[in-house]
Amino acid sequence: MGRLTVTNVSRTFKKEDGAPIGALDDVTLEIKDKEFVCFIGPSGCGKTTLLRIIAGLDTPTSGEILLDGTKISVPDAKRGMVFQEYSLFPWRTVIDNIAFGLLMQGTKKKKAIKIAEKYLEFVGLEQFKNSFPYELSGGMRQRVAIARALATEPQVLLMDEPFGALDAQTRNTLQHELLEIWGKKNVTILFVTHSMDEAVFLADRIVVMSARPGKIKEIIDVDLPRPRDRTAPESNALRNHVLKLLAEERER
Ligand SMILES: Nc1ncnc2c1ncn2[C@@H]1O[C@H](COP(=O)(O)OP(=O)(O)OP(=O)(O)O)[C@@H](O)[C@H]1O
Ligand SMILES: [Mg+2]
Repeated sequence: MGRLTVTNVSRTFKKEDGAPIGALDDVTLEIKDKEFVCFIGPSGCGKTTLLRIIAGLDTPTSGEILLDGTKISVPDAKRGMVFQEYSLFPWRTVIDNIAFGLLMQGTKKKKAIKIAEKYLEFVGLEQFKNSFPYELSGGMRQRVAIARALATEPQVLLMDEPFGALDAQTRNTLQHELLEIWGKKNVTILFVTHSMDEAVFLADRIVVMSARPGKIKEIIDVDLPRPRDRTAPESNALRNHVLKLLAEERER
């Protein structure tokens, strides 16, 4: 299971001078088990903050988030996170990076490596088992990060602009691979992006957020069959719609 209930979540930070700064304002949202939801919105609208709260790395100022009815308060292997960049341990090999979460959970080394090998194969990097992150391309590193997040079999995968630093072609390839993985795994995915193209290609629903403090501006159902045709008129229409919503936020 991986059903998330986000209820009236707000998060206020304090600036250096003590002045409050609203990052999230009254966000309410229900995410179904195994749903793929993309979040898009202006820089600083609280997307990372929301993901961090769901991961249990941060606490909302008010409101709450339930995973299958249980309140989220601390990090847990049920929720795996993939960050934009540099999230691998540079001093660990690929296989040891993937096994990391399992070892942290107390899985015995031999078993952890065995499971890590399975996920290494899953992302097609068997040949790089003993390489270090610096020996990999950006796309390969993100594959390792995905394998690491999946290795503990999370119910929810939280992805914060995971493909933002990649070239367009690698990005497209990884989008395909991610959908394939999602199809095979029982996992709910929350995916932050700045790319309308990516959101329309991947998501069951797109949550468009308004400028800071982040509120939900609109939720768009992407009712297109997969695999999706990026150039189909329906895709274009959706992209245009998202573009219009984001332009409104820029002008605000
Ligand atoms: N630890 C913190 N202390 C103070 N302010 C913070 C902290 N974390 C985030 N903020 C503020 O909260 C707001 C939301 O930040 P957040 O990183 O969630 O935005 P974002 O939507 O992920 O932006 P981007 O698209 O640029 O990644 C920003 O104004 C940011 O300055
Ligand atoms: Mg962010």
